[in-house]
Amino acid sequence: MKNIKSFLAGSFFMFLSCSLIAQDEKPQSKPWPVADEYKNMANPVQKNKVSEDTGMALYIKYCASCHGKTGLGDGVKSRTLKDFAGDFSGSYYQDQTDGEHFYKTKFGRGEMPKYGGKLTDEEIWHTVNYMRTFRK
Ligand code: HEC
Repeated sequence: MKNIKSFLAGSFFMFLSCSLIAQDEKPQSKPWPVADEYKNMANPVQKNKVSEDTGMALYIKYCASCHGKTGLGDGVKSRTLKDFAGDFSGSYYQDQTDGEHFYKTKFGRGEMPKYGGKLTDEEIWHTVNYMRTFRK
């Protein structure tokens, strides 16, 4: 009897903590693995005010329509998307390396456009630097 009770209590707390985590973070619909070659790539552009300002201008022009002004994934176009664009303020995004952000921006996937060809590598690194400022 005691065992059943603690089993039930344990399951309840498991459920509770899972739903709390789920509420806090809404990650990508499917995992998006990035090859080590990109994952471990060093960011050649120093994070400073000039880079963040350059990144901000690019972000507002190219990214905010889907990703939202503050990176919450709530831009005007987000309503027309099938996939959630991601919450850039949370740890799911912020725990990734600069190289992972660079790769995903350069090559895209599904509804996330590829910006290689549209933006130079240096411009992409500026957006990567700017998007670090969304960390909550
Ligand atoms: C048309 C809408 C749209 C635009 C414009 C857009 N994105 Fe995205 N983005 C998405 C969607 C949708 C996803 C999720 C894709 C997936 O998981 O398959 C995504 C995912 C990402 C990711 C990966 C997030 C993660 O947590 O792994 C990064 C980084 C990213 N976008 C950066 C950018 C940048 C930088 C720009 C502008 C240069 C941009 N995006 C413009 C729709 C967009």
